[in-house]
Amino acid sequence: MKKIIEFLLKIKATKVMIAIVSSIIQWVSPSLWKKIETHFYNPYDFDERNIEYSKWIFTRVADFCKKYDFPIDEKDFLELGPWGFLGTGAFLKKAGAASYSVVDSVNHFEKLDAKTIGYYQTIDPSFLNRDTFNDTFVHILKYNEQGIQCTNESIDVVFSNAVYEHVSNPAESIQDLARITRKGGIGIHQIDYRDHIFDQKSLFFLTVPKFLFDLLFKNCGGWTNLKRHSFFREAFIKNGFEILEEIPQSEYSREHIAKYREKLSLSLEDLSTSSGCFVVRKK
Ligand SMILES: C[S@@+](CC[C@H](N)C(=O)[O-])C[C@H]1O[C@@H](n2cnc3c(N)ncnc32)[C@H](O)[C@@H]1O
Repeated sequence: MKKIIEFLLKIKATKVMIAIVSSIIQWVSPSLWKKIETHFYNPYDFDERNIEYSKWIFTRVADFCKKYDFPIDEKDFLELGPWGFLGTGAFLKKAGAASYSVVDSVNHFEKLDAKTIGYYQTIDPSFLNRDTFNDTFVHILKYNEQGIQCTNESIDVVFSNAVYEHVSNPAESIQDLARITRKGGIGIHQIDYRDHIFDQKSLFFLTVPKFLFDLLFKNCGGWTNLKRHSFFREAFIKNGFEILEEIPQSEYSREHIAKYREKLSLSLEDLSTSSGCFVVRKK
């Protein structure tokens, strides 16, 4: 099933249709979508690549912590939007972190079948307590009206990978990170500004009126908030974060950018940046 869907997703028109259909299913019946994710197809489960993928995220977090002289041991971590597997948390446990909290708008990672338990055991058996997460280390947080259910100034490092482009209220979310991060604490956020629906290499999606884009795709995994790089920089600064480092990347050709410069009222930076990493420190 997974292979068939992956093949279909390679065909652009099918991908757009699947995005619209999954959006409708999730809107009409979130519980049916949950069943589909659990039994037929979970785009957030990478099977045997789970370990490799979370190690890659862990390594990036660990490298930035080292670079900014912020040792992992005894620190409290929070991951935003981990997807289907909490392996990064298991690597953090192994590296001596004090705790790993996690919050996702949908808990795709709840499934703890024998295969997944095996993956966690390979990384660090103490990440689990028999067949559940070790709840003295792993804290699964939820959202309430105030934001993340987390005490003010209780987290040392917040990180996310390919999440902020999917957050429906990014300004409020960054304000909330400022609330829960300790003074001097660090944020590491990799954001993917590319199109997730039509064509990753094109800026066409930014020409679709926002109301129509939201109407068609709001509930599907490919929906993005259409915010660009400068929006996030301003949001971090406005909320009391110092920018330690920005790593912008561009995958668009000069001709492509010039073509869309005429159609979109965006700065050259916002047009050309296709992804970016922010490393920030709470002042
Ligand atoms: C593209 S996936 C990225 C997953 C993973 N971090 C990775 O590296 O592949 C985006 C994730 O962000 C989650 N998400 C969307 N809005 C969120 C929010 N407001 N807070 C936390 N997670 C959110 C989604 O449910 C999904 O798991």
